[in-house]
Amino acid sequence: MYNTNELKNKINQWKLTLPWITPYYAIKSNPIEPLLQDIINGPYGTFDCASKGEIQMVIKYGVPASKLVYSNPVKEEKDIYFAKNKGVLITSADSIEELIKIQKIAPQMKILWRISIVEENPEQMATLFSGKFGDDMLNIDAAHKRFKQIQKMKIQLHGIHFHCGSAVQGSSSFGKAIDLAQDCMRIGRLYGHKMELLDVGGGFPTGSIHENAINALKKTQNDPLGYEVIAEPGRYFSANSCSLLFRILTKRIKHGRLCYHVNESLYHSFNCLLMDGISFENQKDQFYSVLNSNESQNSQISNQSDASIFGMTCDGADVIAKNITVPTDMHVGDWLCMQGMGSYTVGPKSIFNGMKSTTRVYQWSGLLEQQNQSSSSIAIKQIF
Ligand SMILES: Cc1ncc(COP(=O)(O)O)c(C=O)c1O
Repeated sequence: MYNTNELKNKINQWKLTLPWITPYYAIKSNPIEPLLQDIINGPYGTFDCASKGEIQMVIKYGVPASKLVYSNPVKEEKDIYFAKNKGVLITSADSIEELIKIQKIAPQMKILWRISIVEENPEQMATLFSGKFGDDMLNIDAAHKRFKQIQKMKIQLHGIHFHCGSAVQGSSSFGKAIDLAQDCMRIGRLYGHKMELLDVGGGFPTGSIHENAINALKKTQNDPLGYEVIAEPGRYFSANSCSLLFRILTKRIKHGRLCYHVNESLYHSFNCLLMDGISFENQKDQFYSVLNSNESQNSQISNQSDASIFGMTCDGADVIAKNITVPTDMHVGDWLCMQGMGSYTVGPKSIFNGMKSTTRVYQWSGLLEQQNQSSSSIAIKQIF
């Protein structure tokens, strides 16, 4: 269930908080059509695409290539051809081999050099990037060497890119990331690189952006070096914009404990539990609405107790929560509604066990302040 007001509110918040930074929405975090449409019709209409597939997802709605960044430092040759033919101008790279590829296929593309940011508080991060992506600029000498090497290849870099780690509460590494990026912009210019664009990536939280991150980013506003600043927020826009509705397939007691089997799984929307560091264990207030299938009407949550929720596949490890507080008066066919299921849930779904989870998306434009039990019940009533 997609709440259009939540996204619009987030876009307004961005405009107020970081007005000099253009957000290119990271499609990978949630590619559902109504959300993409709201971004297109919003004040920015700009997208971070990771692949040919994601470029296609938005150009089919008429989004001009000038509003896209092809922000994957490792690309298939055929995808580079595709992006070039569609007129996509900005991409990123973090290895010499990738530069050679781009130079050969699309020399007109503007390349941002992705630098590695070793994440602070890695245990709190959902996704670390520094072990896999980014050039390790261990010291100033390394930066001089690298930009000189690229100059010798007759390639002119257009800017710097980083992603300082993805997390529900946001990355705490923006301070060091900005400092290193500014050093790289300055050093790069010494070797003839244009360095006109800084892409500060994703890593923004599901809620409000922390003031430490805002203060770090402020260092790029009116920096005398002079460059444009863009970002690639994913979960900041998408996480709270969607709730997931799923059905009870069966209900029983096992080892003295209430268990619900549901028509979702870790191989489907709850993939975020495996790959995105999300956990619902021991949560008490996750479910805020219930649809009673028999009566075709919503019932308020009455009695609650601790229970386990199992996914629909035959994998014994497919456990959505071992212990979570749920409504006890639910029956086969009833629906649970889980909030905050908007990022990294829809995209990674598989068809493991030959099973598909629901692909229907319902759009809801309830008032944000109404997003509580009774209003979501109203929204669910509208759907059914
Ligand atoms: C290159 C790139 N940009 C942006 C994002 C979005 O990150 P987040 O959801 O933390 O904003 C990702 C996430 O994987 C990414 O790989």
